[in-house]
This record gives sequence, structure tokens and C-alpha cells, in this order.
Amino acid sequence: MKAFVLERYGKGEAMRLADLPEPIPGPGEVLIEVHAAGVNPLDSKIRDGAFKMLLPYKPPFVLGHDVAGRVVRIGQGVHRFAVGDEVYARPRDGHIGSLAEFIAVPETDVARKPRNITMEEAASLPLTALTAWQVLVERGHVAPGHKVLIHAGSGGVGVMAIQIAKHCGATVATTAGSAGADLVRSLGADTVIDYRSQNFASILSDQHLVLASQDAETLSRSVDVLRPGGLAISLSGPPDPDFARALGLNWLMRGVINLLSLRIRRKAKARGVDYQFLFMRADGEQLGEITKLVETGAIRPVLDRVFPFAEVNEALAYVDRGRAKGKVVVTLARKG
Ligand SMILES: NC(=O)c1ccc[n+]([C@@H]2O[C@H](COP(=O)([O-])OP(=O)(O)OC[C@H]3O[C@@H](n4cnc5c(N)ncnc54)[C@H](OP(=O)(O)O)[C@@H]3O)[C@@H](O)[C@H]2O)c1
Repeated sequence: MKAFVLERYGKGEAMRLADLPEPIPGPGEVLIEVHAAGVNPLDSKIRDGAFKMLLPYKPPFVLGHDVAGRVVRIGQGVHRFAVGDEVYARPRDGHIGSLAEFIAVPETDVARKPRNITMEEAASLPLTALTAWQVLVERGHVAPGHKVLIHAGSGGVGVMAIQIAKHCGATVATTAGSAGADLVRSLGADTVIDYRSQNFASILSDQHLVLASQDAETLSRSVDVLRPGGLAISLSGPPDPDFARALGLNWLMRGVINLLSLRIRRKAKARGVDYQFLFMRADGEQLGEITKLVETGAIRPVLDRVFPFAEVNEALAYVDRGRAKGKVVVTLARKG
């Protein structure tokens, strides 16, 4: 099969189109013929070598954390899916590699693709929609009447988070540039703050939850807009002690991570609010909930650009620029 292989870590390193053996699905795995694959900042960060400690992939390997396609083989013991099923997934860490013609994925990471959207639209959803779900629903318990601030509402995560927060009944404020303002309004954002010309911290207060995904300074100001008992969840760090514990890190690494988040945790504590870091995880059951939301029209995919499979490196370079409005996807243009 054709696959884009990262042969060495390096900032902006190009991946090489190579011929690899087609994966054989192991017990509990399904082999998916990839119709479309989402591209995420996580792919760039792994390529650049920034995640070597956390996710120690050994080059050469195939990147790609989102897939939509058709099941073409099933491994022993698979019972939730059959050959021919249209599915999508965020393959779990250690099983990534959707920038290829085929990928074997544990069936517990997979869900039925929403019927009312294309493969390209489906490939745009898993990582970002699961991230938003885990922040807002699983950890944030967002409920009707809550006030939620979502940073970078026009980005891949933001477009999902705004819609899921609205679905939960929240009042949503978001930061975006002028080029993304109409988009975030169309997704339901109640208050749109231009991050280049306005200071959200002097406009907002009393927020139940902030989804942060930018720099440390933005995170610090985010804590100031929380109501007592509120929660700031960051996707971009710093990692916190719970994360270090969940990874099973040794005492030295746990100590380092504790130190990294000490300042923001102290600030949060002093204000009577909570700070948490979240690193999203694959979850086929939660993705099944996303399928329902898409099929009932509660949320919709937002595509910025679709690149042909041959242009995977260009797609990653486009994501690197950090200006995407919604998601970037590559398509393998398969029939049927
Ligand atoms: N921890 C996790 O599990 C996890 C999961 C998903 C994502 N992430 C991380 O979260 C971050 C966002 O991911 P993403 O996929 O949403 O990225 P993305 O799609 O590349 O985000 C691009 C968008 O962010 C907007 N933006 C850039 N700087 C901004 C700022 N200071 N304030 C408000 N908006 C800003 C841009 O708008 P303009 O063009 O108008 O500037 C653009 O629309 C990345 O660092 C990613 O690695 C972490």
C-alpha cells in the first residue's frame, strides 16, 4: 500500500511516499480502507520531535490521527463491525498512521460514520470532536445556563467545542480573529471577541469553564474570568500532576511536570478555581455519541481545505501556519 512515512524527526521534515505492506488486523482490530484522513497540529508536533518523550514513535513511521473509510477485513474476536461498514476513528496513541491507504485500528476506537456526511467531513471529526467532548462533557459537565469561554473558536477544536457547548445549553464566548468571526457566530457563539484587538479578560467574567489552547499568558488571564469553583482546562499545557500520574511517570519526571504547572495551579488555587491539563484519548463509544449529534443536526463538520492524498506534506504545512478555519483533510478519492 502507499503511505507517507516520516523517516526522521525534524522541524518541517517532509514525509516520503513509500510502498509498505498492507497491515494485517490483529485480534480485536479492523482493517480500514482509508477514504479520507484528518490532519492535526499533533501530527506536526510529533514530526518536529516535540512529543518524543510522551509518544516515543521510532522512525520510520506513518503519521495521521483521524480516519474515515470502509472496513475491509476484521481480526479475530471483532464483533462490533463487519466488512463493508463505513466507519471513522481516532486511532489510539501507538496505533496511528492514517496517512496511508489502509490502517488497522482497535475496534474499541472505531464508530459508525454519520450517514449524512461525506468521508472527508467524517475524517475531520474524531480527534477534535472527542477533545471537545472530553473537555466539555466528561470533565466540564457543562449544563444549561453555564457560561463557557472557548479560545480559538475558529480552529479545528474550536468549531467542535462551540457546537457541543451550545448543544449542552451553555452560553458561549469565544476568541477569534476577524477572518473567523462570521464562522464562529454561525456555529452559535453568543459573544465573539477579536483576540487581536480586544482583551477577553476585561470583557468576560463569571465563566464556569474555559477551554484554553493557546499560550501561557492567555491561560493565566483565562483564570481571571472564572467564577469561584470554575475550571480552566488547557490542551496546550502545562501538563499537571494528574496527567503525570496517569502516564505512570517516574518520580523525577513527575517532579518536573509538577514544577511546569506550579505557577498556574497556584494562581488557580488562590482564586478558588481549578486548573487541569487534558490530553485527549481515543474512544469509540464517545465517537458513537458524536455520530448521533451529527445525524440529528446538533453539530456539523467544518472543513477549511481538502488536499489530495499526494499533497500530504502541503496539507501539514498548511496546518503548521495555524490559520485554518475548521479542519484540514486529505482525500484518497475512492469510489462508493
Ligand atoms: N491536548 C490535546 O489533547 C489536544 C487536542 C487537540 C488539539 N490540541 C492543541 O490545541 C491547539 C489548537 O488545536 P486546533 O486543532 O484547534 O488548531 P488549529 O485548527 O490549527 O487552530 C487554528 C485557529 O486558531 C486561531 N488562533 C490562532 N491564534 C489564536 C489566538 N491567540 N486566539 C484565538 N484564536 C487563535 C486561528 O485564527 P486566525 O487565523 O484568525 O488567527 C485559526 O482559526 C493546538 O496547539 C493543538 O496541538 C491539543
